[in-house]
Amino acid sequence: MKTDFNSLKDLHQYYAVHNTCKLKTVATQPVYEIEPPSSGILFIGEAPGRNEDLQGRPFVGAAGKFLDELLEDIGLTRDQVYVTNVVKYRPPNNREPNELEKESCRVWLNSELLFIKPKVIVTLGRHALERFVPDARITSDHGQSFTHPTGIPVFVMYHPAAALYNPNLKETMKEDFKKLEEFLESLETKTKENSKKNDAINEILEM
Ligand code: URA
Repeated sequence: MKTDFNSLKDLHQYYAVHNTCKLKTVATQPVYEIEPPSSGILFIGEAPGRNEDLQGRPFVGAAGKFLDELLEDIGLTRDQVYVTNVVKYRPPNNREPNELEKESCRVWLNSELLFIKPKVIVTLGRHALERFVPDARITSDHGQSFTHPTGIPVFVMYHPAAALYNPNLKETMKEDFKKLEEFLESLETKTKENSKKNDAINEILEM
């Protein structure tokens, strides 16, 4: 797997050529972002829809608008976070991506993770969840965090599109975003405590 990229743009341009995903023959273009997130937060959806396919950017349609709203509720803007998908090309008629399509985009997503080194991964929907926490179930585990074997925390969310089809989920997602906000604050506190501990250890070493 190639990993020595200078920018996300280079990375995506490389994988747009070096991938075997059959969807590329029917999609308009691959869908991706090119700015790393200042917050260190990485959201992973399923696959692009029609608007994303036309614009080449993830979550720009109705589900994206709801995602923006949820972010705003917890004091974040879209340009502070990074949003990507398990599959980089639109499946025809918005069907779900199949195993082969997910597998053929696997190293592309891995390479994005390696480049960004996220502080936390937020899975949006079942496909991203299966990939990072295979034993979890979205209905029982949404709004909770797990630790991936890499040590990166994974926070489980419903897909924003699910709330557009089932309005009851809107409130659930708002509550889960509040839980995400609290989780991010607790991560921040832990980081500060660890850095204080390291300072104290360094002072002892200098005694
Ligand atoms: N749904 C997704 O999973 N990804 C997008 O980019 C848009 C809608």
